Amino acid sequence: MGEVAGAFASAFGYGPEGVWAAPGRINLIGEHTDYNEGFVLPFALPRTLTAAAASRSDGRVRVRSGRSTQVFEAGPADLAPGAVRGWAAYPAGVLWVLREEGLPVGGLDLLVDSTIPTGAGLSSSAALTCATVMAAASLYGTVLDPSEVARLAQRVENDFVGVPCGILDQSASMLSTEGHALFMDTRTMAVEQVPFDPPAAGLSVLVVDTRAPHRLVEGHYAERRRSCERAARALGVPALRDVDDLPGALAALPDEVLRRRVRHVVAENARVLRAVELLRSGRPREVGPLLTASHVSLRDDYEVSVPEVDTAVDAALSAGAAGARITGGGFGGCVIVLTDRVEACARSIRLAYRERGFAPPSLFTALPSAGARRLYP
Ligand code: GLA
Repeated sequence: MGEVAGAFASAFGYGPEGVWAAPGRINLIGEHTDYNEGFVLPFALPRTLTAAAASRSDGRVRVRSGRSTQVFEAGPADLAPGAVRGWAAYPAGVLWVLREEGLPVGGLDLLVDSTIPTGAGLSSSAALTCATVMAAASLYGTVLDPSEVARLAQRVENDFVGVPCGILDQSASMLSTEGHALFMDTRTMAVEQVPFDPPAAGLSVLVVDTRAPHRLVEGHYAERRRSCERAARALGVPALRDVDDLPGALAALPDEVLRRRVRHVVAENARVLRAVELLRSGRPREVGPLLTASHVSLRDDYEVSVPEVDTAVDAALSAGAAGARITGGGFGGCVIVLTDRVEACARSIRLAYRERGFAPPSLFTALPSAGARRLYP
């Protein structure tokens, strides 16, 4: 049954009814496109969050992390948007959303453990929410397909936690498969598993957790999203996904900041489509320059980079990486490097960080891994 089930038993004094796992994600390319109804191309990390759970007949919820003895405990009446703080808001929000959706749900005991770094832009909160949706739905007899789990998990963030995120992170966690990147059209929700096997091409994906302190991430994110919606209204299209004449759109927008935001989103969607073509035809190395172009666009046009991130990207490229870019929402978080020179890139990044006086980054390589699943029984 594994460690997390043992931890559940010692925390709550009885065994769990089931254990679920949901991975964190890397977005290979397609950043800030999901809430513009565009394209994304993430893959799941081998690092997962594991959740052991059991139902309770009294409607109460108890939530605990395997790493601490603190327990969050609440009754059904306490579950309201804004009422729960800290990471327990995610599992608490799951019970609230299931109830709001008219699905059968009662109390829950939940113990989670995770190898996904938190606050690093690797979607540890999406993994937590997805695993809890799977657990709670299944314990109360609802069969949900993985994309429905992703939608409910997104609703937890939007309506309970108050983060206006898109569907990228939850879909990546739920729908990814080993050895593939997940090509998704976030308008139609159509997905394609695109083979992505870096080692077969002599490549690695090096992940650099820049450990840059997140700076007002949520406020900036919401502001970017509003700008895109404003630009779409000004252009008379349902979403920026629908802009197919970029020069015409740029000429029609009076505001320079909006022009930059639109240029990023439209070009980024095109880069995703090109990256998918390259992967389909077995040319992963050529995705490298697209990653770098995406970074430049996120740095200069979308303005979501920070000095630690740019330093890592530049150091990797100067060590001969095929491509590098910020991944995730931005303002800190992780950089991904596509390279056949992992050691040289890692050395170059560490050295550049020392020279700039930044706290040492944490580096690891990642293979496209399996999506969320039930581990037990
Ligand atoms: C965060 C959000 C996603 C997506 C990315 C940017 O990870 O949760 O929905 O918008 O930022 O691509």
